[in-house]
Amino acid sequence: MTTTPSQRLARGLLPLTLMLSTATFAQDATSGGEVEVLNWWTSGGEAKALGALKDELADDGIGWQNMPVAGGAGTNAMAVLRSRITSNNPPTAAQVLGYDAQDWADRDALSSLDDVAEAGNWDEVFPQPIQRFAKSDGHWIAAPFEIHSTNWVWANTSMMEALGIEQPETWDDFIASLKTAQEAGHTGLAYGGQPWQDATVFENVVLATGGADFYRQAMIDLDPEALDSDTMVESFENFRELLQYKDDNSPGRDWNLATAMVINGDALYQIMGDWAKGEFLNADLTPGEDFMCFRTPGTQEAVTFNSDLMIMFDTGDEQQQSMQRTMAEIIGSPEFQITFSQFKGSVPARNDLPSDELDACAQRGYEQAKAAADSDTLLGSMAHGYAAPASVKNAVFDIVSSFVNGNMPSDVAAEQLAMAVQGASS
Ligand code: BGC
Repeated sequence: MTTTPSQRLARGLLPLTLMLSTATFAQDATSGGEVEVLNWWTSGGEAKALGALKDELADDGIGWQNMPVAGGAGTNAMAVLRSRITSNNPPTAAQVLGYDAQDWADRDALSSLDDVAEAGNWDEVFPQPIQRFAKSDGHWIAAPFEIHSTNWVWANTSMMEALGIEQPETWDDFIASLKTAQEAGHTGLAYGGQPWQDATVFENVVLATGGADFYRQAMIDLDPEALDSDTMVESFENFRELLQYKDDNSPGRDWNLATAMVINGDALYQIMGDWAKGEFLNADLTPGEDFMCFRTPGTQEAVTFNSDLMIMFDTGDEQQQSMQRTMAEIIGSPEFQITFSQFKGSVPARNDLPSDELDACAQRGYEQAKAAADSDTLLGSMAHGYAAPASVKNAVFDIVSSFVNGNMPSDVAAEQLAMAVQGASS
């Protein structure tokens, strides 16, 4: 479903002032204009979700120049973005994650979105943990697309049924079910051996092993005692045990190819953020029937999250600015938040929307994210830029991937982790 500014006004979603301004932009300032949008949404499900934004912009008379940089979690995209800014050639807008948005705001590179946010009542409808990253010094500097969450397991229903596996509720049952699959000659865990994926799975294990308070101390507060603790050693032990159930071809594998293994019945589970669901949906599969989603056993008390933010670069060009505002207004609008998540696998970042148009996994995920925001257990994902700045995140990636690819003992890994984090944050 696409809407023009006048349709959004008709539904009471825009105050008159904004309606006049966006309508003017659409007819005058933006007509013939084009936005260039840097992003890493290149998989099937991701591209469909991005297409929803392109279509909405087209309805407002705004053209689209895609600037995709393949590579999960945006590591490659951020390198390209930095070089574009260094050569004084910023895109109109870019997809970024939490701490990176703050970093660009600190460098005074961004356009303020305060007027759009005020008109759309963003202070009321976006949860505080999102505002913490989408605002800087009290000003809105980014438009949140959604809430993604990383502590999910995606499961092949037919394989579970064939092997008599019930949905596991505890870590031990989870491992036991992987063993059952392996003994029956299947790959238990669909795994992509890339640093950001290693870290995504690892943060699940840390949460399952130590619980929400421990996750916060270690991953968000970066407390050296928690990082080099017995609980962290145990987390690495549990991680090592889990890694036995991946296949030998996992090194370098892209996340969506790992998802395809579960889709095609080549593996039982994947632990991955809910963008993986976008791939199942893109293959016309139905959650609860063709595949299952459940919180990683042992992590049910919390939601590890990230949120894609669209930042707009301040180029001083009026036409660009008006198109940026239109784009922000679309991203924050109720209809778009739902449509986008229906393709992307996420849940809306706004907390004021009906959930009946969301699928079964997203309905649960939406309620869980809202409850977690209220009970302070919506915890920033380390792997996806919401727990610590990029320097620390990359230091964690290095240690975790060395652990995955080598023979580092768990106590050495915990010690190295604490040292690397300290080095990167000092
Ligand atoms: C982003 C998602 C994306 C995923 C895989 C995450 O960091 O938030 O939007 O689908 O990476 O690239």
